[in-house]
Formats: sequence, C-alpha cells, structure tokens
Amino acid sequence: MADSTAQVIRIQHPLVQHKLTLMRQSETSTAKFRQLLREIGMLLAYEVTRDLPLRLESIQTPLASTEAPKLAPDKKLVLVSILRAGQGLLDGMLELIPSARVGHIGLYRDPSTRVPVEYYFKLPHDVEHRDVLIVDPMLATGNSAIAAVERVQEYNPLSIKFICLLAAPEGIANFHSHHPHIPLYTAAIDDHLDDHAYIIPGLGDAGDRAFGTR
Ligand code: URA
Repeated sequence: MADSTAQVIRIQHPLVQHKLTLMRQSETSTAKFRQLLREIGMLLAYEVTRDLPLRLESIQTPLASTEAPKLAPDKKLVLVSILRAGQGLLDGMLELIPSARVGHIGLYRDPSTRVPVEYYFKLPHDVEHRDVLIVDPMLATGNSAIAAVERVQEYNPLSIKFICLLAAPEGIANFHSHHPHIPLYTAAIDDHLDDHAYIIPGLGDAGDRAFGTR
C-alpha cells in the first residue's frame, strides 16, 4: 500500500491514515496519542521492511519437512531514534523487529537560529554491517533529519532510510537537496510550515503530545 515517487514514499494504508487523523485531533489524550504513535510505528515498520531479502530454509512441521522462507541472517537493522518524539515510533517498530539494534540521537532546535544542536549520540558498534532506519515523527524544516543522516553516514552503514509520520513540503525539499538518495517514508505531506516552523495543519508538538509536557 505504498505509492512511490522518486525518493518520497507515502504510506497510504487506511489504518495508518485513520490513526494519524486521530493523532491530529486536539482532543486526543496523551495516553491515546502515545498508543497511536506506537501502533503506527508497527504499521510503518511493516511497510519499510517490504524489501528485506528472504532465504529458503529446510524446516520440519509437525507433518512434513519443507523449504520455507526466513529473513536472510546477514541482513541486520539498526533503528535510530531522534529524541525525543522518535521514541514512540521506535517502540512500535521494535515490536515487529525485536532483533534490531537501537541507536539514539539527541537534537534540540535552537529557538533563535532553528539550527539543530546535538546533545546525545550513541550507535551500536557494528553499524557498517547494518541497514539503518532513522525515525522521527515530524519532518518540519528537515534540519534535524539532515543532521541525523550526516552523523549516521560518518559510520558507513550499508544503507539509510528516513521514516516519519508527517512531512512539510519545505522539509522534504530541504532534506532531498542535502540527501537526494536517501528514501523518505511518510504517512502524509501537509500544507506548509508556520512562522515557528510548526507543520500546518500538523498535530502540534509531537514530543509534548506524546509525553504530556508543554
Ligand atoms: N516538531 C513537532 O513536533 N511538530 C511540528 O509541527 C514541527 C516540528
């Protein structure tokens, strides 16, 4: 259920779209918002792992022996969450891909310059043998996503994909002007950014809504 144009892949699965609409609604509670973010994380994980290679393996069922597909053992994933809103998506994705390793990037947006400032960075040691999925619900200006990809690229992973829930057209253009070959998965592309770089109509501040802060 993904429609692919260039390197932007829109995830249009009805369950994703329905849950996203619930998340957008201002009356949705913190607990419900967090639950929906986790559920959408699972659905996004399903879509972004469609191209994982399979290998046939000889197995024994209770009735017969047969050849059956399993995920190729040499294809290993790292999920990298951009703190803090990435955590909600990460939790859902890990439910489906429990063997993935996890990295974290802490970035905050300097309120005056809007430039991302790194305050935390930790990746698994063997990233060069793994494919990386970077997750952050909101691609607004794109600056955090650009910075996160650049940091991860320093460790030479096999590949990188960027996964978000909502993207602004300005953010997509900025991201792809820096990283034209990194596939960007999103459930929706909204209208524009406001003067404070919030996505309109958007869903507000994803971190605040997931954690009940303000
Ligand atoms: N980050 C958010 O959480 N929301 C926005 O609208 C933009 C950036």
